[in-house]
Amino acid sequence: MKVSIDDARIINLPIFPDKRGNLSFIEENKHIPFQIKRTYWIYDVPGGVARGGHAYKENQEFIVALSGSFDVVLDDGKSRNTFSLNRSYYGLYVPKGIWRQMENFSTNSLALILASTNFDKADYIYDYKLFKDYVK
Ligand code: TYD
Repeated sequence: MKVSIDDARIINLPIFPDKRGNLSFIEENKHIPFQIKRTYWIYDVPGGVARGGHAYKENQEFIVALSGSFDVVLDDGKSRNTFSLNRSYYGLYVPKGIWRQMENFSTNSLALILASTNFDKADYIYDYKLFKDYVK
């Protein structure tokens, strides 16, 4: 089955609003459609820098702006869509086989990424031309 950016989507997370501060959470296979194998975060990003210009063959991700804001540009080889993330009570589900780039990081932004696989360099496609051939 071909992957399409239509399979990517914003997922709203539970919120427990409270005078003492709000609380949100994520459970695997419930709020996001995969089991969490790995968590990483991106922070202290200098202005004007783009990260993550690549695709994964198997890894699925869920990206949350825990603080600040940034854009995630998704590309399935045919169409491209930009998602702006700026609140910690929703995130972007990125299926496998999608080219993704993160950009426009605000000062002090913090990107939390939940991943469905352990880190594996061999799972990356770093070359956009190779990606286009891969999804053809
Ligand atoms: P990478 O995914 O290439 O970051 P970006 O696409 O945003 O530039 O990761 C940068 C480096 O961090 C890479 O050399 C490998 C390492 N890394 C790990 O060791 N484990 C991980 O889970 C991740 C995401 C990266």
